[in-house]
Amino acid sequence: MAENGIGWAALGSLAGNGPAARGPAPGTLRRILRYAHPYRGGLLALCLLVLAGSAAIVATPLLLQAIVEVGIARRDTDTVVLLAGLAAAVAVGEGLLSYAQRMVSARIGESIIYDLRTELVRHIQRMSLTFFTQVHTGALVSRLNTDVIGAQRALTSTLAGLLANVVAVVSVVATMFVVSWPVAVIAVLLLPAFFLIGRVAARGLRSVARAQMGVNADLAATAVERFSAAGAMLVMLYGRDDDEAGAFARHAGRARDLGIVSVRRGQLLMVTLTGAAAIATAAVYGVGGALVAGGAMQLGALIALVALIGRLYGPVAGLVNVHVDVMNAMVSFERVFAVLDLKPPVLDSGRRGPIEPAVPPRVSFDQVSFAYPTTDQLTAAGLDEVRLPGRRGGTGVLHGVSFELRPGTVTALVGPSGAGKTTIGHLLARLYDPDSGAVRINDVDLREYRLGAVREAVGVVSQETFLFHDTIRANLHYARPDAAEADLERALEAAQLLEFVRGLPLGLDTVVGDRGQRLSGGERQRLALARLFLKSPAIVVLDEATAHLDGVSERLVQEALREILRGRTALVMAHRLSTIRSADAIVVLADGLIVEEGGHEALLARQGLYASLYLSPGG
Ligand SMILES: Nc1ncnc2c1ncn2[C@@H]1O[C@H](COP(=O)(O)OP(=O)(O)OP(=O)(O)O)[C@@H](O)[C@H]1O
Ligand SMILES: [Mg+2]
Repeated sequence: MAENGIGWAALGSLAGNGPAARGPAPGTLRRILRYAHPYRGGLLALCLLVLAGSAAIVATPLLLQAIVEVGIARRDTDTVVLLAGLAAAVAVGEGLLSYAQRMVSARIGESIIYDLRTELVRHIQRMSLTFFTQVHTGALVSRLNTDVIGAQRALTSTLAGLLANVVAVVSVVATMFVVSWPVAVIAVLLLPAFFLIGRVAARGLRSVARAQMGVNADLAATAVERFSAAGAMLVMLYGRDDDEAGAFARHAGRARDLGIVSVRRGQLLMVTLTGAAAIATAAVYGVGGALVAGGAMQLGALIALVALIGRLYGPVAGLVNVHVDVMNAMVSFERVFAVLDLKPPVLDSGRRGPIEPAVPPRVSFDQVSFAYPTTDQLTAAGLDEVRLPGRRGGTGVLHGVSFELRPGTVTALVGPSGAGKTTIGHLLARLYDPDSGAVRINDVDLREYRLGAVREAVGVVSQETFLFHDTIRANLHYARPDAAEADLERALEAAQLLEFVRGLPLGLDTVVGDRGQRLSGGERQRLALARLFLKSPAIVVLDEATAHLDGVSERLVQEALREILRGRTALVMAHRLSTIRSADAIVVLADGLIVEEGGHEALLARQGLYASLYLSPGG
C-alpha cells in the first residue's frame, strides 16, 4: 500500500466532497447492508485481501533488518541474497494484492452503482408528471449521480480504506514497539500532530471542493439551457448575447479562482505533511542513531524503524477524516433512499385488461374531483434544493365533473384557458388518479385495469408536441418499434404529411431538430398525429394547440384528424371552430365545472358561455 514513504493516495479522501456531515437515521445501516448483501462473498474477499496486504507492509522492513543483522553482520552472502530476493518477492506480492484489492472493490462498487441507478430510474419513471414539473431536472440528475457515487464509495473505498488504514497503523506501531520501544514511543507521540494538521487543512479543502462543484454545475446548467434551440433563439431575439457572455465569464472566472485556491490549499497540506514526516524520520534517526552508537540497538533495527515510520503516516492521514467520509456516505445513501421512498401517485395494482381495440370503448367521468399534488412530498424527501420554487398548496382544479364519451364519437371539450381541459385528458390517460369519483372505460374503473392496458388503449396528442431530437423515422417508430416502412407511409399519409416528407432531401431520415424545431408548427402537429395513428389506440385524447394555423395547414390538420379519429372514441380539447363544429357532442367546462353540454346549434341558442366563447373575436 504505502510504497514510497507516505501513501499519499490516502490524501485523496481528505479533499472528498459531499454533503455536510450529520447523523444518519436509524435503520439506514440495515438498509445499506441489504444492498451489500448480494456481494457479501466479494466483501469478505476484500477484507481478507486487505489483511494480507497489511502483513506485507511490515514484512519488508523486517526483512531489511534481517539482511543487516543476520546476513551482513555474519558476512553470509547467501543469506543476504536470499533475504533480498524475499524482499523483492514480498514487493511483487504487495503489488498483486493491491491490484486484486482494487479489482474486487471496483467490481463490487460498480455493481452497486448499477443496482442503485437502475432502481432509481425505474422508480422515477413511475413518479407523477407533477414530480417532473416541480423539480429542476438538471439538479436532480446531478444530485442523484453524486449521491449514488457517494453511496457506492461508502461500501468500497471508505470501508476498505478504513479497514486497511487501521490495520496498517496498528501493525506498524506494534512492530515498532517490538523492534525498539523508545523509538516507537516517539513515533506515537508525533501522531497527534499529523492528525491536527490533516484536520485543519482538510476542512479548507472540502469547502473549496464543494464550492467548485456548485460553480461547475451552474456553468453546465446555464450552457445547456442557452444552447438549446429555443434558448439560443431567445438570447438572439432579445439581443442579450453580451450579457450572457458576461454572465458566463463571471461564472468561469469564479471556477478559475476556486481552482487556484484548491491547488494552493492542497499543496500546502502536502508540503506540511511531507515536512512533518521528514521531521519524524529525522527524530527516528536521531534517537535510534544514538541508541545504535551507544550499543543499545543494532543498525538493522534502525533501518527497519526508518522503513516502518515511512509506512505509518500515509495510513494516518487516511484516517484523519474517515468519520466524515463514513457520515457523508451514509447521508448519500439516505438521500437516494429518500427518492426511492417517494410514493408514486399512480399505482399499478389493477389486473384487468387488455382493452379490446377493435370495438370503440365507452368512457365516463363520474363525479371526478381533482387537485394537482403539492410539492410537499419533495420537501419531505430532502429534495428541497432541486424543488422549483412555486405554489405549495394544491387548489382544486376539477370539482365533481361528470360526462360521457359515446363509443366511436368525437366529443369536443371547450372552455376558457385554465378551466381544466388538459387536466381531464391527464386523468383519462391515468397520468394522475382523481381525488374522488372515478374515470371508467367500458364501465370499469381505470384503477382496476393494468396501467399498461390503459396506456395502450389511450393515445394522447398533447398541447405542446414533443418530438425527440432524432429522425422522422425514429420519432414514428417510438409509437410502434416494429412498424414496417409501409406502415410509416400509411401513417404519414393519414396525417397529410407524406408528400411533405417525400419532398425532403433525406425523406424519413430527416432529423427534426431539438424538440422538432426544424418543422413548422403545423408539420409538428401532423407528425404527432401520424405517431398516434401508428399507435392506433381505441381512445384518442387530442389537446389542440392554441396556436392558430393558416387556412391550408388548418385544412390539412382537419383532414388528418378525420382520418385518424375514424372508428375511435375521441375527446378533443378544441380551440378551433372547425374542430368544434365537426364534433358529435360538445362539453363546456369553466373553473373545473361542467356548465353546458349539447350540440353546436343548441348551445348557441342557449346564449350561455359557449355562445360567448364562440362569438368572441378569435374564438
Ligand atoms: N402540473 C400542474 N401542477 C399544478 N397545477 C397545474 C398543473 N397543470 C395545470 N395546473 C393548473 O390547473 C389548472 C387547469 O389547467 P389545465 O391545463 O387543465 O387548463 P386548460 O383548460 O387546459 O387551459 P388551456 O386552454 O390554457 O390549455 C390551471 O389553473 C393550471 O394552473
Ligand atoms: Mg390545456
